[in-house]
Amino acid sequence: MLVKCSQCRNEFNISDDELRPCTSNITVACPACGKDIVVTYYLIKKALGQIEPPYLYGDELKVAIAQDVEGIPPMPQVAIKAKKIVLDPYSNASTLAGIIEQDQAIAATVLKIANSPFYGNPGQVSSLQRAAMILGTKALYEVLTIALAASVLGKNLQGYELNTDDIWLHSMAVASGCRAIARRYNPSLEDDAFAAGLLHDCGKIVLDSYIYERKIAFTKYLEKKNTDFIGAEEHILGFNHAEIAYSLCTKWKFPDNLSTAIRYHHKPMQSPEKDLSAIVHISDAIAIMSGLGIGYDGMMYHVDGAAFDMLNIQDSDINDIKLYVGEYVKKMSG
Ligand SMILES: [Fe+2]
Ligand SMILES: [Fe+2]
Repeated sequence: MLVKCSQCRNEFNISDDELRPCTSNITVACPACGKDIVVTYYLIKKALGQIEPPYLYGDELKVAIAQDVEGIPPMPQVAIKAKKIVLDPYSNASTLAGIIEQDQAIAATVLKIANSPFYGNPGQVSSLQRAAMILGTKALYEVLTIALAASVLGKNLQGYELNTDDIWLHSMAVASGCRAIARRYNPSLEDDAFAAGLLHDCGKIVLDSYIYERKIAFTKYLEKKNTDFIGAEEHILGFNHAEIAYSLCTKWKFPDNLSTAIRYHHKPMQSPEKDLSAIVHISDAIAIMSGLGIGYDGMMYHVDGAAFDMLNIQDSDINDIKLYVGEYVKKMSG
């Protein structure tokens, strides 16, 4: 079985003999860069020729996917501890930095992001305690959220035709757009909107291999029907990536308003969290319009005008949001 590392993009082979004894998802270290790669049980069975068309659909497919979701690591302890610190009025940024320091891999990413031009002083944030001093609790927690999302989203998605950079660029664009929209519409939603934007497409990570193996069916359906990609997912799989994102968010014990907002990001007017879902939907549409992270699904995006009306977003607002997003993405990748 050919496995591609999303970190260094090297490909390597796992022999059938090694795969045969597996009874669940496995984690292998990339021989080139050492990054852990999760190979799902479904893909293992497929590589061994144990799964053939016609492919699973609807509830049966959901059972297979639920197994994959189970195999995805939980949110690291640092996420849970950090949330407690942020909610505690007696703690401060230095305590938060101390918590982050306990997880070396996350700490390294936090430092890298804290040194990006957007967060201030490139090259000068030499330690987490210094980051705490410069950024304060709120911004440091935001940087941690980004670092955690990066560890989840760092995947190469062959089905959706998004490489690691594409999906990351898109997530950053949508997160920053969500912030810009929330600031205009309801500033109290700013932090939730940013986090929801960052992780809105996490369901794609789980669904990708299923899209990939049904690629011919997708292409045919999209050619024939005048539908968006969500419509194609629902027709061919029986559900869409936002629903799978909801299962992941539940596994990661995200607050329900955030998980629900993500669940309805393509159908904001049906959402029990209309405001937050509409913010993510509009920001997603603006990122797609700006060409930030367009994959196989980006060309067919149904934009819900009612969401724009509900949040009173005018053309001039869209231009301002685009500018903010462009600037943010540039500074974050600079
Ligand atoms: Fe989406
Ligand atoms: Fe998206």
